[in-house]
Amino acid sequence: MSRWMYFLFLCVAVGATEHGNDEWLEVNIEQGPVRGQLDSGGELWTFLNIPYATAPTGKHKFKAPLPPPTWTKTYDAVDRRIICPQFVWKSVMTGDYSMQEDCLVANIYVPDTRRKNLSVLVYVHGGAFQLGYGDWFEAKNLLKYKDFIAVTFNYRLGIHGFLCLGTEDIPGNAGMKDQVALLKWVQKNIAAFGGNPNDVTIGGSSAGSMSVDLLTISKSAEGLFHKVIPESGSNLSTFSSQSNPLQNAKDHAKTLNFTNVDDIYQLEEFYKTLSYETLIGKGLNFDDPYFFTPCVERPTGDGSFLTESPFSILKSEEYRNMKKSIREIWHNFIKTGKPVPEGSSIPSWPPVGEDTSPYMSLGRTVELHSSALTEDRTRFWENIYQKYYQEPLSPPKPYSRSDL
Ligand SMILES: *[C@@H]1O[C@H](CO)[C@@H](O)[C@H](O)[C@H]1NC(C)=O
Ligand SMILES: *[C@@H]1O[C@H](CO)[C@@H](O)[C@H](O)[C@H]1NC(C)=O
Ligand SMILES: *[C@@H]1O[C@H](CO)[C@@H](O)[C@H](O)[C@H]1NC(C)=O
Repeated sequence: MSRWMYFLFLCVAVGATEHGNDEWLEVNIEQGPVRGQLDSGGELWTFLNIPYATAPTGKHKFKAPLPPPTWTKTYDAVDRRIICPQFVWKSVMTGDYSMQEDCLVANIYVPDTRRKNLSVLVYVHGGAFQLGYGDWFEAKNLLKYKDFIAVTFNYRLGIHGFLCLGTEDIPGNAGMKDQVALLKWVQKNIAAFGGNPNDVTIGGSSAGSMSVDLLTISKSAEGLFHKVIPESGSNLSTFSSQSNPLQNAKDHAKTLNFTNVDDIYQLEEFYKTLSYETLIGKGLNFDDPYFFTPCVERPTGDGSFLTESPFSILKSEEYRNMKKSIREIWHNFIKTGKPVPEGSSIPSWPPVGEDTSPYMSLGRTVELHSSALTEDRTRFWENIYQKYYQEPLSPPKPYSRSDL
């Protein structure tokens, strides 16, 4: 299975939003008044498709986002199904969408509670940086705790979000700069919805996980969030940064029959004037060795997202002292043989036995299981291993010098 499939199927289930109720709640944000609706479940106010930034268009379409629009008449924050330009893969994205270049909208889910200053979860959607949209993930079940606000949003994808030429007009990482713009928007506006800008957790899975992990090492996102949940994907993952973005851009241009790829300004012009169809892409090519993901930028003075490789940033002094709860788990395991520290709400976890159990199940409730599930899986991989494993060889004994 290609890495594409693998990452796509980690995406969270799709769900259509319903608006059974006709109750509205109005709040004032910096851009003007907005009103959202009570969700059909009746426990949640939804403010959907609020523009948090403006995607530049025309020849500027690969640059950092611009400030969002403002208004005086109340903005109806209802689901307009806005998604960023992308190839819509029907089997993972159902329903109708309104695809448009100016696609930078956020969705705010506010529990129906009188409590204020609620914690905030900002969730970055996955989709290999090529597809998806904010509401691909709906935290409705999680929100039943009624004590935090969830924010989802769109960011530019594929060529549109991640073409990286190192020129002033196509510096790279437009999609990541959208994510930073969203976090700034949350800082400015979330209090209006009852959220606490000093308690923001960013989370995501797959490309969303790589995104949040990259946000933790980007100077441009410093101070905009406080906790991170990266789920399957890290700053060092194979496609969390392009190893040679210029070469990728050249190779891709060649597949589109553009030949003058070695003249950087010709190449730039080619991309700046490409058709909307090309911007959307031709779909998922599982054999395509290059696709557009975050990059290490050449600093061009336009609010860079990342100008050093994640690896060198992690090696730097600053990160050596980073506090990690994983360290506690390690330490606890070393000292006691149990990974879960005393007093934790996670069930205590004795060492795994020969039958590969017990294991921790991370379902709706976190619980210890000792079913055969892991055993089956382990056997499956062990069989493959046994069939294909090649014993490491030591070098043979050289012939004796005396034979010379
Ligand atoms: C919200 O909680 C923070 C602590 O996280 C506190 O500093 C702040 O004053 C509170 N704000 C409001 C409006 O209650
Ligand atoms: C970056 O990736 C590495 C390797 O997966 C991981 O150890 C680290 O926790 C990640 N994030 C940060 C901010 O260090
Ligand atoms: C590129 O050129 C070939 C040969 O003329 C043609 O078959 C193909 O459709 C062209 N591709 C694009 C994307 O225009």
